[in-house]
Amino acid sequence: MTHTNTPYPLRSSVATQLKGDATIPGDKSISHRALMLSSQVLGKTHITGLLEGEDVLATAGALRSLGVSVARISPHTWEVQGVGIGGLTASADVLDMGNSGTSTRLLMGLVTPYPFTTFFTGDASLRSRPMARVSKPLEEIGASLVTAEKNRLPLALTGTKTPMPITYRLPVASAQVKSAVILAGLNTRGTTTVIEPQPTRDHTENMLRHLGFTLDIKILEDGARAISISGQQTIAPADRQISVPSDPSSAAFAIVAALICKNSSLSLHNVCINPTRTGLFTTLIEMGAKITFRNERIVAGEPVADLIVESSRLKGIIVPAERAPSMIDEYPILAVAAAFAEGKTVMHGLAELRVKESDRLAAIVDALNVCGVEARAEGDSLIVNGASKGELPRGGGTVTTHFDHRIAMSFLVMGMASQQPITVDDATAIATSFPDFVRLFNQLGADIEPLTAHASGDHQPFVIAIDGPAASGKGTLARRLAEYFDLDYLDTGSLYRAVGMKVVYAGGDPSDLKTAVEAAKSIDAEDLANPRLRQEHIGKAASIVSAFPEVRAALLEFQRQFATRGRGAVLDGRDIGTVVCPDADFKFFITATLYARAKRRHRELQGQGIEVVFESVLEDLRERDERDQQRSVAPLKPADDATTLDTSTLDADAVFERIRSEVTSRKTAKVA
Ligand code: DC
Repeated sequence: MTHTNTPYPLRSSVATQLKGDATIPGDKSISHRALMLSSQVLGKTHITGLLEGEDVLATAGALRSLGVSVARISPHTWEVQGVGIGGLTASADVLDMGNSGTSTRLLMGLVTPYPFTTFFTGDASLRSRPMARVSKPLEEIGASLVTAEKNRLPLALTGTKTPMPITYRLPVASAQVKSAVILAGLNTRGTTTVIEPQPTRDHTENMLRHLGFTLDIKILEDGARAISISGQQTIAPADRQISVPSDPSSAAFAIVAALICKNSSLSLHNVCINPTRTGLFTTLIEMGAKITFRNERIVAGEPVADLIVESSRLKGIIVPAERAPSMIDEYPILAVAAAFAEGKTVMHGLAELRVKESDRLAAIVDALNVCGVEARAEGDSLIVNGASKGELPRGGGTVTTHFDHRIAMSFLVMGMASQQPITVDDATAIATSFPDFVRLFNQLGADIEPLTAHASGDHQPFVIAIDGPAASGKGTLARRLAEYFDLDYLDTGSLYRAVGMKVVYAGGDPSDLKTAVEAAKSIDAEDLANPRLRQEHIGKAASIVSAFPEVRAALLEFQRQFATRGRGAVLDGRDIGTVVCPDADFKFFITATLYARAKRRHRELQGQGIEVVFESVLEDLRERDERDQQRSVAPLKPADDATTLDTSTLDADAVFERIRSEVTSRKTAKVA
């Protein structure tokens, strides 16, 4: 995820109760491995439940650059056409890994046994993280690296034709370093062995076995685990399935939320319960949590279960250092649970938390303190004094997240049950692992809202005009902006569609000027909610009637009144910034290449179960573009003072984030 200049604050107020099925996103570690490892077997792998956070998208993007075909079929469902061992090709450009350390380290391993150079970079936060732990074994195998100062990104890794099969004992427990060495071993003649003194996540091993690779895993005399892989194994081509289970680290937020909120009960399906990941579950149960595991089974090599969690009275405990590796990401949310537990909770062995995305230990202590909880770090331990009997933590503070997604989510959860609402200064990072967090929790009964100008009491009406070609994503953007800034929203295309619909359903001919103008004059707000407006033949009629200047004139007043009636508005269409609202406070022209727009439209239609060939969608849009640009009435062109954004390579979240931050900062500048 890229840092944006403007933060996105959210406020979480007390939830009366949380109830229902919590759909938890796919596991991040397993999602990365599903994409990466299915590229290493021949045949097509169909992946469901993939986490579509930015980190995993960075892996998908990098694999594409390395010559693998990776396609999104529908939300969370992807297909990888494997190239097999040795099948990657050099990337023509730098791989931008965003915020993802996992993607970077695993891919560095994967490309080590290839005689070409791969360039890696990432966002500011990733560029500040050391890569020495992983570069050391990869250099032993034969990679040469050139890095920025102190072993950081950006870096160039030149692989080798003759990789050495090494035996590497991990000096520090790290699943990423282990995986990087195993992945390098995939295409290395001979046997590569990694020895891990303490167990770390074994998702790479599980996924490799699920895909048909043979691994040899032994427990050594000193209790360490030795994982050996012989390189260049032949795996028969096949069509495969991977169902990615829910992420236990993401599930942790729903679990703790249900425990601390009164009268709550949540069910969570298909949660990964790999023992290397369930330290938090064990700890919470020791604290008195009511968590029931049902229907335990193995899916895509991973143990999973369905969970039921109910409000519970928690008590403070001592969490041993040995448990830290199996719950390293869960300390922020455990610290929140500890704030609600009676008595003191002491968590040992947290050194690793100081080199994560931020100094997470210090950040947790600060956040607890601003929310009225007594907490401190002593060496590598975290001590939290829980609430006294029958009392709830005060809450009420503004938490500094340091761009850490887990801190942001943990303290939003804390706000659900504290006496006073809790604000997190910037929730942008949540998209890295749990893009749907706010919507899901609000559905279950939470009360999380953006801290908008409106919420803080200084709502000044203003108008945002969004122009752009068909399928540029302007509608989605406009709707989100309206919701965020608390403005009315008008999709002006629906006006022309409504005119087309009126004519067609009255048996008339849309190309008859008089009929069309009559219809345009009789449009009211109710017509705009008719689901038939989206039908294909109504779209065609709309494009015919919208070419009449008289029809446009008849609709102009409706649009202007909508924009100026008081609360402020977002309007989208093809002539808003130029004709309808030439004085709009903000004007954006949202565009994308024809190909990117056709891809989106095609996906959208498939998502609705409509089977069309891509080429016909492309052709359709091409024709529409031509009509839009060439017509003499209101031709599609950006207003001179519009800000243009090409969204070809951006997803909806990124587009929203950019425009939202621009509006926020320009508004603030105006006020100041
Ligand atoms: O965006 P849409 O597909 O719903 O638009 C329907 C038709 O209306 C399309 O042919 C373009 C036209 N239109 C227009 O001419 N001016 C607008 N402001 C919005 C839409």
